[in-house]
Amino acid sequence: MYIPKGILGSGPGKWKRIHERGLTMIGNPERRVLTRARALIVAASGGTMLMGMGADGPVTIGERPAVEMHLDQSMIDSGLLDVDELFHFGEILFDARFNSLDGQGRPATTGGGAPRDPDEPEFIRTSAPDSNACAGCHSQPRSGGAGDFVVNVFVLAQTLDPVTFSVHPDFSNERNTLGMNGSGPIEMLAREMTDELLATRDRCASEAARLGIPVTKTLLAKGVFFGQITIMPDGMIDPSEIEGVDWDLIIKPFHQKGAVVSLREFTNNAMNHHHGMQSVERFGTDTDPDMDGMPNELTVGDITATTIYQAALDTPTRVFPDEPQRRRAIRRGNRFFRAIGCAECHVTNYYLDNRYFTEPNPYNPAGNLQVDDVPEPFRFNMTTEGVGTRLRKAPGGRAVLRPFTDLKRHDLTDEDLTHFGNERVPQGMINGFAPASEFTIAPFPRPTQQFLTRKLWDVGNTGPYGHRGDLTTITEAVYYHGGEARASREAFFAMPQADQAAIVEFLKSMQVADEVD
Ligand code: HEC
Ligand code: HEC
Repeated sequence: MYIPKGILGSGPGKWKRIHERGLTMIGNPERRVLTRARALIVAASGGTMLMGMGADGPVTIGERPAVEMHLDQSMIDSGLLDVDELFHFGEILFDARFNSLDGQGRPATTGGGAPRDPDEPEFIRTSAPDSNACAGCHSQPRSGGAGDFVVNVFVLAQTLDPVTFSVHPDFSNERNTLGMNGSGPIEMLAREMTDELLATRDRCASEAARLGIPVTKTLLAKGVFFGQITIMPDGMIDPSEIEGVDWDLIIKPFHQKGAVVSLREFTNNAMNHHHGMQSVERFGTDTDPDMDGMPNELTVGDITATTIYQAALDTPTRVFPDEPQRRRAIRRGNRFFRAIGCAECHVTNYYLDNRYFTEPNPYNPAGNLQVDDVPEPFRFNMTTEGVGTRLRKAPGGRAVLRPFTDLKRHDLTDEDLTHFGNERVPQGMINGFAPASEFTIAPFPRPTQQFLTRKLWDVGNTGPYGHRGDLTTITEAVYYHGGEARASREAFFAMPQADQAAIVEFLKSMQVADEVD
């Protein structure tokens, strides 16, 4: 495991403090033998993490859970833990190779949480459990990052019961592993965009009621066009002109389909889907729906920590090669990228009004911690706290974000170019948990050939490319930009070879840093 230098702050002593302040044990008595009085020593040495016990408690010899401590949300609510401490605890959970003593496995539930035949296989690459750790897939260039083709996920196969043995697109959508670097700022961008869309919808509704006629308004969020909305005097919504976002107008920045609101919602889904680790906020306290003999597998605090780990990862950065020719090409490529219309979808710059990441997300669907469940959301400043590259400050308490996406779904297929239209199974409501918003119009139409504009701020070292990860070069990915991106694609291939190469060189300079201090 790679531990960023400096994150330990005051070193193992810091961990001792956290633990003494009240990491509590949950679950079966096996695990409860560890008491809060013990010290947890985390030492980074040669890539290994050692968890030892203080002199005042017995040490478990032999088999034991991968995660011996669980975090009580009340410790977070009472303000006793800072972002570094939560980050580190979240990293332990994200990197843990869960075993049966943790509650790994879900013999009686599918990855969607529905009942499943316990005789089905325990591990299977298609329907999952398919892996041992979040970091088993999210590992490039380090924990929390993207993944190789070999760790693709067969999205929606997890909801099948009996499990499917087939990787055929009739059964699931094969997707490549994305990296979470910068995902805290992305979640906050989506929230601010959602606020804007919902404010427009509310203005539209009250105008329609006041005037007694249908009113139509253009939907813009941070300058991105999401079609238009028409509302009748009685409040009925005509959603037919809404574009690239679900009809509830809540921007869902996660999954390449744009289907999940928050890192927390994704974490609750993924913990159950990939590992059979069921969180109490999703599956209830003192229940054992997966019938593995282990209730309370993950606390609310554990899910908060795992979320903060992902949210506070370093933001992707720019890496400039030594060769002057390459540096010149990067500067030219940057200009060309905008000139030929790539930035119409891969929007380069946003201002965030708020520099703070706050947890939980006010748009979380049911089955995930809600804002009302905590006295005060946990927050950290994305321009000063967390690891590695931070967001840049902008005047007026704002921050600058350069993700190269519009967080909108687009169709890149047409008659000639169908590569990105390979999927067949519509991705509707996630895992059967309907969004909690009172404005929900479900199920949402999410056409199989539409995908969120891929963030490009990490494209330089998160290959392979495309939602299935079946493209090995950036040029191949651009080649398959048909449909809505046809014009900019034609412009790209009409350029002299050297100019195309400059754009590629520019994109390669956007990377997740190999190491963070
Ligand atoms: C078997 C491989 C695998 C494992 C294990 C895995 N993931 Fe993922 N993860 C993926 C893939 C593939 C995607 C892209 C899914 C898509 O686009 O539909 C993804 C996407 C995500 C995203 C959304 C990123 C974005 O920008 O859209 C988050 C958040 C995430 N994973 C968190 C987790 C957490 C937390 C765990 C552990 C509980 C985990 N993942 C375990 C493969 C995996
Ligand atoms: C109409 C919107 C749109 C335009 C214009 C557009 N893109 Fe994209 N781009 C997308 C979408 C959507 C994806 C995700 C495709 C998929 O995997 O399904 C994407 C994916 C990519 C990828 C793959 C990234 C990865 O990590 O897999 C690259 C590279 C890329 N675009 C570069 C470009 C370049 C260069 C241009 C200009 C020539 C461009 N795009 C124009 C929408 C657009």
